[in-house]
Amino acid sequence: MASAVTPPSTWYPGSWRDRPAEQQPTWPDEDARKRVEARLAALPPLVFAGEARNLTAALAEVASRRAFLLQAGDCAESFDEFSADQIRDKFKVILQMAAVLTYAAGVPVVKVGRIAGQFAKPRSQPTEIIGSTELEAFRGHMVNDDAFDPEARRPDPERLITAYHQSAATLNLLRAFATGGFADLTQVHAWNQQFVSTSPEGRRYERIAGEIDRALRFMAACGIDLAQEAGLHQVDFWTSHEALILHYEEALTRRDSLSGDWVDGSAHMLWVGERTRRLDGAHVEFLSGILNPVGAKVGPSATPDEVVGLCDALDPHRVPGRLTLITRLGAGRVEELLPPLIDAVNESGHPVVWACDPMHGNTFTSSSGRKTRNFEDIWTEVRGFFRVHRQKGTWPGGVHLELTGDDVTECLGGAEEISEADLDQRYTTTCDPRLNARQALDLAYRITELLRDLPDD
Ligand code: PEP
Ligand code: CO
Repeated sequence: MASAVTPPSTWYPGSWRDRPAEQQPTWPDEDARKRVEARLAALPPLVFAGEARNLTAALAEVASRRAFLLQAGDCAESFDEFSADQIRDKFKVILQMAAVLTYAAGVPVVKVGRIAGQFAKPRSQPTEIIGSTELEAFRGHMVNDDAFDPEARRPDPERLITAYHQSAATLNLLRAFATGGFADLTQVHAWNQQFVSTSPEGRRYERIAGEIDRALRFMAACGIDLAQEAGLHQVDFWTSHEALILHYEEALTRRDSLSGDWVDGSAHMLWVGERTRRLDGAHVEFLSGILNPVGAKVGPSATPDEVVGLCDALDPHRVPGRLTLITRLGAGRVEELLPPLIDAVNESGHPVVWACDPMHGNTFTSSSGRKTRNFEDIWTEVRGFFRVHRQKGTWPGGVHLELTGDDVTECLGGAEEISEADLDQRYTTTCDPRLNARQALDLAYRITELLRDLPDD
């Protein structure tokens, strides 16, 4: 099999060190960091080469218009809010959304969590000032703590080890959920959490779940042996995070003994963020050599040339599924900015997956000082993304969302009409505001309509 990635001959897991590396913490004790790197390098990888290749193949189906990508999870996972229930509830809402999309729009859904490793955050400002105190910015629990306290904000490399172990435990549970019966389609009703099931979105979901039940009974009555159909009883669920802290990613990068390819064992898919995607930078260099499928965030400042440059650097061999471009252009600008990017990428011949992140171009601070997003803006960006792809004849391949299974009040609007005054009620995110389960389901129904409206090939 052709390898998805033949790294440039100058590439090795540490070759990023010769490039400018933005958004890296200033570790107070370099020797301590090096000791942690050595310990990480001796720990087992969390994912294997074959899995990463299988995800590339699944994403190739998206690139070929035969599947839809649902990439979703926390903005930042937390060391404090770490429990089986919280992982289960996030998994449930993703399964619900996937069931809605698959059943109502008839497309297979590639399910990728922002989970089991999403612990590091790029920041617009290196420090945070409250009153007359200036402290190092919070960079995610993999680096420091969010409490506004000098000790808490000091980067501590031990946190890289904690992040690894929390990722391992999270992934272990996800694997059990995905293959051990929880994701069985006969459980489709059980994914509806109580606070959702009593809402209009939850009742609508119950109707779809009932139809899925009937479809299964119909197939069984036709003599189809459902027990033999693995696709009904388990799902593929993949992990992803922003590859931000390169010492961590390098330490978990291993050579696949069968192919000789380099795999980043920290997650199935890695992406480069909007703030670190410069072409001559360390992050692009690192991602260019690993065999895992990779993503690149594309914000409003990205020029068509830069985006084609990212494609050339990250997908030189034009492998379908290798590269996902995750546009986050903002509700007001997506229809203006996306068309020239699509034209340039089409012209270049790179078979990318296009995904829409309708979250990061639509963040603002409420009058009470909470970072938030408006559900209507999120929806408007998704709709604009679909409209542009429809005009261009390209496939609107997926969405990239920040959500949680919890009943939070972090994004405004939606059917519950969460207002600025409600934000304080249950605002628990460690970083950016997330859709709650009802808002997430609502968005899934709306996306279903958009998918149904696309012309047949
Ligand atoms: C994120 O995905 O949480 C993020 C920081 O996104 P971006 O790099 O697009 O700003
Ligand atoms: Co975010």
